[in-house]
Amino acid sequence: MTATIVDGKTVAAELREELAAQVTAMTSDGIAAPSLSVVLCGDDPASAIYVRNKGRAAERAGVRFTLHRPPAESTTDELAALVRSIDADESVDGILVQLPLPAQIDEDTVMACISPEKDADGFHPYNFGRLAEGHPAVVAPGTPLGCMELLRRSGVTVRGSRAVVVGRSAIVGRPLALMLVNADATVTICHSRTRDLASVCKEADILVAAIGRPRMIDASYVKPGAFVIDVGTTPQDGVVVGDVDRESVEPVAGWLTPVPGGVGPMTIAMLLRNTLALARARRALVQV
Ligand code: GUN
Repeated sequence: MTATIVDGKTVAAELREELAAQVTAMTSDGIAAPSLSVVLCGDDPASAIYVRNKGRAAERAGVRFTLHRPPAESTTDELAALVRSIDADESVDGILVQLPLPAQIDEDTVMACISPEKDADGFHPYNFGRLAEGHPAVVAPGTPLGCMELLRRSGVTVRGSRAVVVGRSAIVGRPLALMLVNADATVTICHSRTRDLASVCKEADILVAAIGRPRMIDASYVKPGAFVIDVGTTPQDGVVVGDVDRESVEPVAGWLTPVPGGVGPMTIAMLLRNTLALARARRALVQV
């Protein structure tokens, strides 16, 4: 067996076109286009690239994009005041504060200044809580949404399957496990303290690697025919490396999302979907 390589780049491009068509339909009805405001604070080069890509994708989809660049030496209070002012701006539908923030800034304080109705990342505790209850809000974190969309578009039956998520972060592992449960999978969350990790992973019909340890998952972790999702993105010698050892896993898995070109491009498409969903919800509220 050789795994089918899941082409996230192409799926994400299709999604962005679908979203662009929905934005065009919205604006031709005389409704304002969705707007996304991004706050980029600090000098992290990877963050600058991510934000540039988000801006390009937004503009191509017809989403109004505004970039705020507060100084790297901003204080928590200054950044919180900026985010509060963006949140209060009626013309803004979605806000994203690019992480990580500089070390002197308290991330939780700043993120708490984004209201759930403008939470383009889907990180707000209210939106996370809705997902945990099994009644998702209009938005959810983009990377796990992207993983679910890749499963859906690959025609995989999630209901009744065994899913193992390796990694318990608040922005990938935990929300993805909840999405899989909500889609009727039987889900196990593993982490650095899990005993006999390989044998747990080997039970998985759907195996998600979101650990941040380059090439850790080899064939000994993979059930033949499994759908393997690689969320890892560790920079190494100028290239981005996933958590899955592709050479080892490809002959065993049924499907494999590659790095790069798998989950990564889906995250931005899902950010745009979230922004459009927030705009629709806000317009509906305004029209009531
Ligand atoms: N930094 C890396 N990925 C993300 C993301 O999806 N959202 C935000 N806000 N920051 C990030």
